[in-house]
Amino acid sequence: MQLPARCNGIRLLLFYLLAFIVLGATAPVSRAQSPAPAAPPTTEQRADALLKQMTLEEKIGQLNQAGGTFAPGAPSDEELVRKGLAGSVLWISEPAAINRMQKIAVEQSRLHIPLLIGLDVIHGYHTIFPPPLAMAATWDPTLVERVQTIAAREARAAGINWTFAPMVDIARDARWGRMVEGAGEDPFLGAAMAKAQVRGFQGVELGASNHVLACVKHFAGYGAADGGRDYDSSYLPDDLLWNVYFPPFKAAIDAGVGSLMSAYMDLNDVPATGNYFLLHDVLRETWKFNGFVVSDAMAVGNLEMHGYARDREDAAYKAFHAGVNMDMASYSYLNELPRLVKVGRITEAQIDALVLPLLVAKFKLGLFENAYIDESKMLAVFNDPASSKCAREAAQSSMVLLKNDGQLLPLDKSGKTYSSIAVIGPVADSGAAQVGFWGGMITAGKDVVTVVQGVRQKVGSNIRIEYAKGPVIRREMQSKFDALPGNKLHEEPVQSPANAKAAFEQAVATAKRCDAVVMVLGEEALMAGEAASNSALRLAGLQQQLLEAVAALGKPVVLVLINGRPLNISWAAEHIAAILEAWEPGNQGGNAVADVLFGDANPGGKLTVTWPRNGGQEPLYYAHNLTFEPETDPNTKSKYQDQPISPLYPFGYGLSYTKFAVSNLQLNKAKAKVGESVGVSVDVQNMGTIAGDEVVQVYIHQQSGSASRPVRQLKGFERVSLGPGESKTVHFTLGKDELTYWSPSEWKWIIEPAVFDVWVGEDSTASLHGSFEVTR
Ligand code: BGC
Repeated sequence: MQLPARCNGIRLLLFYLLAFIVLGATAPVSRAQSPAPAAPPTTEQRADALLKQMTLEEKIGQLNQAGGTFAPGAPSDEELVRKGLAGSVLWISEPAAINRMQKIAVEQSRLHIPLLIGLDVIHGYHTIFPPPLAMAATWDPTLVERVQTIAAREARAAGINWTFAPMVDIARDARWGRMVEGAGEDPFLGAAMAKAQVRGFQGVELGASNHVLACVKHFAGYGAADGGRDYDSSYLPDDLLWNVYFPPFKAAIDAGVGSLMSAYMDLNDVPATGNYFLLHDVLRETWKFNGFVVSDAMAVGNLEMHGYARDREDAAYKAFHAGVNMDMASYSYLNELPRLVKVGRITEAQIDALVLPLLVAKFKLGLFENAYIDESKMLAVFNDPASSKCAREAAQSSMVLLKNDGQLLPLDKSGKTYSSIAVIGPVADSGAAQVGFWGGMITAGKDVVTVVQGVRQKVGSNIRIEYAKGPVIRREMQSKFDALPGNKLHEEPVQSPANAKAAFEQAVATAKRCDAVVMVLGEEALMAGEAASNSALRLAGLQQQLLEAVAALGKPVVLVLINGRPLNISWAAEHIAAILEAWEPGNQGGNAVADVLFGDANPGGKLTVTWPRNGGQEPLYYAHNLTFEPETDPNTKSKYQDQPISPLYPFGYGLSYTKFAVSNLQLNKAKAKVGESVGVSVDVQNMGTIAGDEVVQVYIHQQSGSASRPVRQLKGFERVSLGPGESKTVHFTLGKDELTYWSPSEWKWIIEPAVFDVWVGEDSTASLHGSFEVTR
């Protein structure tokens, strides 16, 4: 029976009536009692009832995500939606356009099925927060959840009901540009961040008002791309998959994430989007995931490019067979599934099984009740002052103080120490660099408080601030996104050598005129993120030369980094007194940088990636295995003959304007039976005269077993705020989850009798040590 969209309510009533008649007729009802009202249908029942009305073509349509932006030459998104041949539309971000598209779906398509509107709301929609790598550096899951709650509210107010986030790929190679989108190198921290983000995006459960459907991505192993080259193959043995690369995905699923995106690359020679082991054996069979899977953009069609599928039909078959519910913008499902059904390679019942979770998600999101947004209410959501306040707090909390010799920072803002400060560098006044790749794709980097602006506002008339950009920076190879229709980010135009020289000289002259210098160096938005691999991690353009020329003036110099990944700052680490990693600090970044530079906020962020000396050290991570050489032997450090093997800065590292002491490590037992927990406690004290945050971190090492275990593994952390002189006892539990690992020789999850080392402290080199033994 066909009813127009506005009759959804009537349809629901008829459903209840039918349910009542059917259920009522079979249930024995005593005369004296009035019949119990029929329970309202579950979303699954509603989805099932709708599925029964759909033609094969319409069902396949639900499995198709239209993406005109990505597919020039394909039928228009509108036409597909009108014919019921698209279940979702990709990459429309303007609220009016979204409403128009939903109207076509709801009022003009035969079954009036609303659309999933998907966009990469990775770290904000209107208010742009620091990206996930920076948010992980806060080590504060509660803050991460708050941030993504705001991102969800803003996105939903604009009509986006589905975000392609969280991105939870473990990244142990800074050459890979997408490191910025995830939480870094560690599975334990990655799992905590994944959970927090899912809760932020989806709310208490999928369908909570002002929230969106989350999509954990990219399943799996994308961050291990060979050589850090984006989209390149990953080769990961099972133990790395289970112990390192899978845990954040599992955590997202346990937190109830409603959808998952398959990755682009080959995993162990089988492209992730056609990988039955990943999408069926692990995801559905082992983890019982009951949401839906969307491919990455064009990844279904790309199975042919990989040399995995014979042709498009085979590509559609392989992705379908592996369990991809929705084809993002390659149109392979739309074009090929009808024939596959006709020739009997797949059945309509199999199609039903893939369509159902998509419909369930739409029902849960409440789209059948209301697919539209009220544009007049959107601005009030965007302009909520609490959001910018939170963005400023998030940026402050994410910054990592890498060096502060002679306590150069915080700078005096009164004007008594410096009457003038030069702010210099290509990203000192760049909104796009501050909001990064995804933030810039949506907002073009507008409405950003840049570092120059933030510093000027902070010091007012006390200090003269002079700004010089210096030579522009560009990628040496063009970004493929430069040419993408709809992209709002573009590279700077090429600067002639003469103009670059003039800009360089002007910057040095500016520094010379001032009492102190803040150099703001790093990466422009398109230099980090997708398709932005970097072989050497060098500071782009003439930034290194400029830094050296300015340092040679002999003034106090602070280096602020705006970037999406560790860069080669080995020279700066030796010659510049103070270095602050500010990441891509978002809309409020300039204010937050100024807060930290001038001491209105005390930095407390800690690295969630090991910082290499240069690109040649990558991949580099703290949780490596032992070799036959004792770790304490100085010769173990000489794996390279040209430089030390140690990183420039270790995982978990970050300074503060105050000092902390971590002491009194206590384990509540020396021996524990397999399955028992061990309690760990430690005292942390602020030894200084100003308030600050310390991230207390717990690492373990299993000394022997059925496999070699990493030299250290993070198994607990807590960010603690302490006033001057204040101290606190922090408690951790090392239980089943922390002591279990997947053994490649036993081929199962296992807790083994062994001696375990425990270290607690301020980073992954912590020396406060204890141990306990697990016995049978
Ligand atoms: C990226 C995904 C993203 C998708 C849609 C792809 O190129 O790999 O992370 O969600 O585009 O924008």
